[in-house]
Amino acid sequence: MNEKIINGKECSKIIRQNLKERIKEIDKNLKLVVIRVGNDEASKIYVNSKGKACTEVGIDFLEITFRDDVSEEVLIDKINELNNDEEVTGILVQLPLPNHINTNKILNIIDYKKDVDGLTTTNIGKLNNSEVSIIPCTAAGVIDLLKFSNTSLESKNVVIIGRSNLVGKPLISLLLKENASVSICHSKTKNLSEYTKNADIIICAVGHPNLINKDMVKENSIIIDVGINRLDDHICGDVNFDDVVNKVAKITPVPGGVGPMTVTNLLVNVVKCYEFQKN
Ligand code: GUN
Repeated sequence: MNEKIINGKECSKIIRQNLKERIKEIDKNLKLVVIRVGNDEASKIYVNSKGKACTEVGIDFLEITFRDDVSEEVLIDKINELNNDEEVTGILVQLPLPNHINTNKILNIIDYKKDVDGLTTTNIGKLNNSEVSIIPCTAAGVIDLLKFSNTSLESKNVVIIGRSNLVGKPLISLLLKENASVSICHSKTKNLSEYTKNADIIICAVGHPNLINKDMVKENSIIIDVGINRLDDHICGDVNFDDVVNKVAKITPVPGGVGPMTVTNLLVNVVKCYEFQKN
């Protein structure tokens, strides 16, 4: 069974080792600043793991926190200050933001050359236009895992489930670039199985435990499970792993699949931002 598993920890380790070497060669300290608003417990955990990963590869890390009643003006002033600070390589606004804040307005204040999440309209447009851009970390991680597992994408039927800005939408461009045929499904899709049963590759990113079972997948297909669902005593993905594992050719586990790739690509994007700014 082990040869079926696409190991995100192993793939991450290789990328991080190469990155460490690259960072040592750079004659400037790289610095990532994360802005976190409010008391969302999951966000605190994610930001802590981003900080730890930065320290491990030699990137300086600063977390700036605001109360959840912070105004848009205060956030905009802080982001402008960071845009103008030459010591700051990358800026990340941890999501979600409170409801009174216009998320797109805030994200678009970030200088696109410091936008480590690739969520500014400029970076999204560049990606869709096949120009060099910062690619959202999780979507980049999905492509890394497909390549790491020697999965060819050319002419394959790929079904993405989930249409988020962080994963589903950027994957459309990334997969088209690899000459895959791409279908995108979501909560309003009728007869999801009709899509998934014809898929050579399924990428599931909806946050719905056990959405995909063996009756919905084709024999020898490849499954990338982006879901991270916290149940009472464990974490699981969107795919019923035990049910499908004997039917598919390759599959990512949860945890240990896509998860580690997100933080790894954040580190990759800090270095990319440095290179953007230098050129
Ligand atoms: N919240 C959950 N995932 C992410 C991410 O990749 N980036 C940001 N900024 N916020 C998130």
